[in-house]
Amino acid sequence: MDSSMTMPMTQRMAMPGLAAPNVPLVNPLTLARFVDALPVPPIASPIGKRTHPAYGGQQLPLYRMPMRAFRAKVHRDLPPTPQWGYAGSAPGPTIVTRRGEPVLVEWVNELPTRHFLPIDHGIHGAEKSKPDVRTVTHVHGARVSAQNDGWPEDWYVPGKSSTALYPGNQDATTLWYHDHAMGITRLNIYAGLFGSFLVHDDDERALGLPSGEFDIPLVLYDRLLAKSGELYYPVSDDPEAPWVSECHGDALLCNGKLYPYLDVEPRRYRFRLINVANTSFFNLSLSHGKPFQQIGSDQGLLAAPVDREAIALYPAERAEVIVDFSAYAGQSVQLRHQADGIVEFRVRGKGRRDTSVVPTTLRPVRRIDPSTAVQDRVLGLGEQDDAGGNPITMLLDGKMWSDPISEKPKKGTVETWTFVNVTGDAHPIHLHLVRFQILERRPFDLYAWNARKELKFTGPAIPPPAHEAGWKDTVRCDPGMITRIIASFDGEPGKYVWHCHYLEHEDNEMMRPYEVV
Ligand code: C2O
Ligand code: CU
Repeated sequence: MDSSMTMPMTQRMAMPGLAAPNVPLVNPLTLARFVDALPVPPIASPIGKRTHPAYGGQQLPLYRMPMRAFRAKVHRDLPPTPQWGYAGSAPGPTIVTRRGEPVLVEWVNELPTRHFLPIDHGIHGAEKSKPDVRTVTHVHGARVSAQNDGWPEDWYVPGKSSTALYPGNQDATTLWYHDHAMGITRLNIYAGLFGSFLVHDDDERALGLPSGEFDIPLVLYDRLLAKSGELYYPVSDDPEAPWVSECHGDALLCNGKLYPYLDVEPRRYRFRLINVANTSFFNLSLSHGKPFQQIGSDQGLLAAPVDREAIALYPAERAEVIVDFSAYAGQSVQLRHQADGIVEFRVRGKGRRDTSVVPTTLRPVRRIDPSTAVQDRVLGLGEQDDAGGNPITMLLDGKMWSDPISEKPKKGTVETWTFVNVTGDAHPIHLHLVRFQILERRPFDLYAWNARKELKFTGPAIPPPAHEAGWKDTVRCDPGMITRIIASFDGEPGKYVWHCHYLEHEDNEMMRPYEVV
């Protein structure tokens, strides 16, 4: 195969301060493509019903999600890969809920007591005094009260569990659940602790979009794989401080397989693209050169479908798309990252009648009026480097996790948050609890900011493109730009977190508490 066809994602040779892997790694380019069927994670079923004080005598569905060690083949020609996953698979089962129907989930830690990935005990929250294996699950994008949100320090050890209430007070969308344990989230997610969590509602159902078996989550992530089949997580060249600021793999997995294929009917499908990678973004396109019809972003349906030749998805971002295979019977179409085919859709010659539709309007997205904001918080995205220019920690507004809480929005009020990116990289910033809208990105003068904390713009404000003009919960903050968002802080008072969703950054101080008061 022509290697120029593939942009290698791994930067392990190029990054200073990175140790050479101590095990031989698989070169995915040498593997046969599209020999494994794409797994579609099973839909979780409740194990029973239980009441919750918040809902009086009402019986709520109760799910049980045991986190377990397991081995699974990610490719036909590789030995099984030891992983950790919910219900013993990665991704875990898909939880499917409906707006207005609360559910309970018991997240159970049944993992071994030793971690198989390199913990950095110098990182806040991961000290030697802490148990190696700790977990706490967060449903990314769920509108929940603070005590059900998966506070990073509320982790628990093997043998323990925690039950959370998800009230379902939100519009149809694609959420995902994942581990959030303080200081080791990057390792727990890399190990496989993630899955999809979908919300449906009547308005969305009434649209007639492809549904049921034609509505499929595609959970995308990259890994480095040892020839033994084991996951390799990169480390620095300092054994006492193995943390690395980025983690890029050259093996691109979808739903647990490397280069899978999916047999599809010649009809429309709804795919939910979810980037669960540690630091890598995906630049997705279709090999037949036709655009995706994007119908949704992080927090649900867009106002109208948007044709997109390519979709860049940063960690934790989601895009719901419609792909119509009806003109491709008997052919195949690949989902690509850059020029690299990562999933092959094999279109059957015949299928059942397709009664789905994609309406020209989906759902009104009422823009929040910026003049209703009671506060504009200007927050720096920064990093601290060592003498050699290698990052030591990543910081939000120059503060550490343990510094006093500085962001205290009042319940029900509207605020704008302006992220000032003073680093050379983009950062995907995520707020728990709220959905938000992107107001603008705008270039600014770094020197004026560094010298006097003055925001001096050097170009016009760039409004969000149509696909970013819906509801979001994670926003790409480009270098050299400010990124301004607006949110109404509706929700239970309490402590939540906001953070960079590059997991290496999040684990090393690029996460801060905030409090709804
Ligand atoms: Cu995807 Cu704080 O989470
Ligand atoms: Cu970051």
